[in-house]
Amino acid sequence: MKTLEVSFAGVRLRNPLILASATPSWDGLRSNLGWKAGAGAVVPKSFAPPRKWASHPRCGRMRLIKHGNQRIGMVNIELYTTMTLQDWLDRELEKAYEGGNVIIASIVAHPDPADTGKNARLIEATGKVAMFEINVSCPMPADADRVGFQMGNDPEMCFRQVEAVKKAVTLPVGIKLTPTTHNMVPMAQASEKAGADFLTISNSVRSFAGVDIRTGLPRLAAYGGYSGPAIKPIIQRHVSEVAKAVQIPISACGGVSRWEDVIEYIMIGATTVQICTSVMWHGYGFFETLLKGLSEYVEREHLDSWDEIRGKALPYIVPIDELSKRPPMVAEVDPQKCLNLTRGTCEACGKVCFYGAIHFAPRFQLARENCDGCGLCTEICPAEALKLVPISSRP
Ligand SMILES: Cc1cc2nc3c(=O)[nH]c(=O)nc-3n(C[C@H](O)[C@H](O)[C@H](O)COP(=O)(O)O)c2cc1C
Ligand code: SF4
Ligand code: SF4
Repeated sequence: MKTLEVSFAGVRLRNPLILASATPSWDGLRSNLGWKAGAGAVVPKSFAPPRKWASHPRCGRMRLIKHGNQRIGMVNIELYTTMTLQDWLDRELEKAYEGGNVIIASIVAHPDPADTGKNARLIEATGKVAMFEINVSCPMPADADRVGFQMGNDPEMCFRQVEAVKKAVTLPVGIKLTPTTHNMVPMAQASEKAGADFLTISNSVRSFAGVDIRTGLPRLAAYGGYSGPAIKPIIQRHVSEVAKAVQIPISACGGVSRWEDVIEYIMIGATTVQICTSVMWHGYGFFETLLKGLSEYVEREHLDSWDEIRGKALPYIVPIDELSKRPPMVAEVDPQKCLNLTRGTCEACGKVCFYGAIHFAPRFQLARENCDGCGLCTEICPAEALKLVPISSRP
């Protein structure tokens, strides 16, 4: 593979990485910084209906979620761009487009789909955008508003939004779905049926940022969107389920913090991968870090095209009852690697075995007849001394 190029909904991108619609692309200058840093395309911050969402909280909008000192995610209550669409087109688009930026215009779905279509037509007339992404997934508006993630839980509404924008423009049209749903497949299939050219999976997860126990006050006084590394397993569930159920390409979005995450998303069916929180935490240079890792990977694996690995993991995702029927496994220790057996320093696995299979008497002992094959000790062991093996290899 000489380049990292990918074809996405008929548009050639120099690589599969996309700067997601959010704060780092709120204006033209910053949208262009994402492009200059190496992104294959950029989605500027969503254009909203000119109503109450045109202003956003300025009393603190973002809260880190930590485990110990480690950041695992972020909750935000940012809403959409505060500029009118016309101002953005007049003042920002030219700056965003500099150097041939591939711009994917994100339009918040209006309550009346015809209005979403009108905005798309206005944007297409500039000749400076490459595709559209309809946003039916903002996690903040709720209840009577019926926009954002509530709209995105209605397959019929997803259909009507895509249909209206497809009628209004000629460029490819995608829709950004919400992970705040028990099953994304009906919305994905309705969008595909309406003619969507791609799906973005997904927006952030509707959530609560916690309580400051010194004051008893919420850390953010409204429900917001959870993003960053912690949401990757949630988004990967949706991406893989939808990838099995539709034919159109998927732009995965959620929790990318290493180049390996990008490969994982491609292996569960994604064609492109969007990034937001990691860019917010590490700057636009994060694209360079990812691109370096990806370039080395394709070289090492002798890949000629992303198609060679796309969806590779999907056939191995099976209904859970099939796994329960498979032969059981048990833990096995490598005595050369175990820190307890070699140095007497570790007892980590003993604390996580709830089946009485690991004892220290005084050194590590495994009662394999008690092992239930849960695998937690193998995940916890700092020395990779434990693994699961077929029960038939039991000595
Ligand atoms: C501060 C902030 C603002 C965001 N604003 C938008 C937005 O205007 N439109 C949109 O479609 N998604 C928005 N998002 C969602 C991101 O584009 C992305 O879908 C989500 O954060 C998951 O990706 P990540 O884990 O890489 O951050 C926003 C996210 C954050 C953190
Ligand atoms: S696999 Fe589970 S049950 Fe078996 S030893 Fe490890 S923690 Fe205990
Ligand atoms: S966690 Fe690993 S290194 Fe520590 S005692 Fe268990 S097997 Fe040995």
